Amino acid sequence: MRAHEAGALHGELGNRGPAWLRTPDDVNALVPQLWPRGVVRDSDGVLTVSGLNVKDLRAEFGTPAYVLDEDDLRARARAFQAAFQGHDVYYAGKAFLCRAVVRAIDEEGLFLDVCSGGELATALSAGMSPERIGFHGNNKSVRELERAVDAGVGRIIVDSFDEIDRLAAIARERGKRQPVLVRVTVGVEAHTHEFIATAHEDQKFGFSVGGGAAFKAVCKILDDDVLDLRGLHSHIGSQIFDASGFEVAARRVLALQAQIRDARGVELPEIDLGGGFGIAYTTQDDPAAPADLAERMLKIVDDECEARGLAVPKLSVEPGRAIVGPAVFTLYEVGTVKDVDGLRTYVSVDGGMSDNIRTALYDASYSATVAGRASTADPILARVVGKHCESGDIVVKDEFLPADVQPGDLLAVPGTGAYCRSMASNYNHVPRPPVVAVRGGEARVIVRRETEDDLLALDVG
Ligand code: LLP
Repeated sequence: MRAHEAGALHGELGNRGPAWLRTPDDVNALVPQLWPRGVVRDSDGVLTVSGLNVKDLRAEFGTPAYVLDEDDLRARARAFQAAFQGHDVYYAGKAFLCRAVVRAIDEEGLFLDVCSGGELATALSAGMSPERIGFHGNNKSVRELERAVDAGVGRIIVDSFDEIDRLAAIARERGKRQPVLVRVTVGVEAHTHEFIATAHEDQKFGFSVGGGAAFKAVCKILDDDVLDLRGLHSHIGSQIFDASGFEVAARRVLALQAQIRDARGVELPEIDLGGGFGIAYTTQDDPAAPADLAERMLKIVDDECEARGLAVPKLSVEPGRAIVGPAVFTLYEVGTVKDVDGLRTYVSVDGGMSDNIRTALYDASYSATVAGRASTADPILARVVGKHCESGDIVVKDEFLPADVQPGDLLAVPGTGAYCRSMASNYNHVPRPPVVAVRGGEARVIVRRETEDDLLALDVG
């Protein structure tokens, strides 16, 4: 296909088509914003990460595999840390958590946000100090709360009146004063997929600012000194590019802060504006740099505090995706190539919706490239699909791949570090892929491949 034909096709696909397409002339090109910093093609056209080529990675670790460029992850963590200097950055472990990542995050000086007993256990078992952990969740169990209080978790973000009662009882029983934040919903409509927007009123998280529940929750906590109220927390959603949502959230949270001061004579020392910073999955995505985000967020907090005569509270943020998402690509092997006449070419890989549910669940867009070689063949419009028994099992909806893509080729999909392994399933009894970390020219498995024995070990009937 010629470039102009591809352009026409792009136009033709219109709204039901891709959010973006690479131009068909550059099927071998690696758009830098989509790939970990350590990824380049070598002189033979083979993708390499930190000097290791993907053919060798396949030989050693098999496919599919999540490949993590650990230096890239650390650089992103450091960039947030530097941008929010003097404030606290919590890595949101729900994006992807394992012991090696906890240690990397810890070494880079970040705090950690966990949202379940399992994530807490992972963090503690990796040696993360409990005071550096924040514990989230709209329905933490009594057992989870007890474990968190017993461990000495630095802050628990409370999310319901039931939880305030439970947590107060647990702390009282232990004679401890537990630091908490109150999660509030500020009524911001984040421009993101409905399932990952969290600050509009009609949803399960937090206490509504507009409806008055947030102020009531704050008063309830202040009236019971077994809980140490450190501040307010707002998370407006995920994969957000427009900082204005954070600005509106900050204003509304600080208005509540002023209301609390006026009514109760207390100025809360902290404010957390959550995570949700967007990343590039395609060339159409244009995420802001952490430094720019930080500048805007800190300025709005400063201005708003000045206008209301409040002392500036310590700010914390909770990026997950923006730290781990771009640091990982998934390496697959192509199994079949099927040309569905006149429509498109289906390229099936040896994984799919079990290792990346985001395309099926959120209609997410990804990119892909043939990784084991460069090609001079004409580009074709391809859809990368998995091996599951479901037609919605799509990994990459639309991508130009070289027409000679064939069984045995390696295919790499970038931007899969966040919410892919952490949301992976065993659908169709497909074992989950390993996570292979590459650093300083060396590769090591940090989460091993699941085996059929692992699957059968749970089947005790
Ligand atoms: N803080 C809180 C309170 C959160 O609920 C979340 C994400 C984060 C921080 C981190 O957000 P991030 O910076 O990673 O966007 N499974 C969905 C995303 C769900 C996010 C849930 N909460 C996805 O794959 O897009």
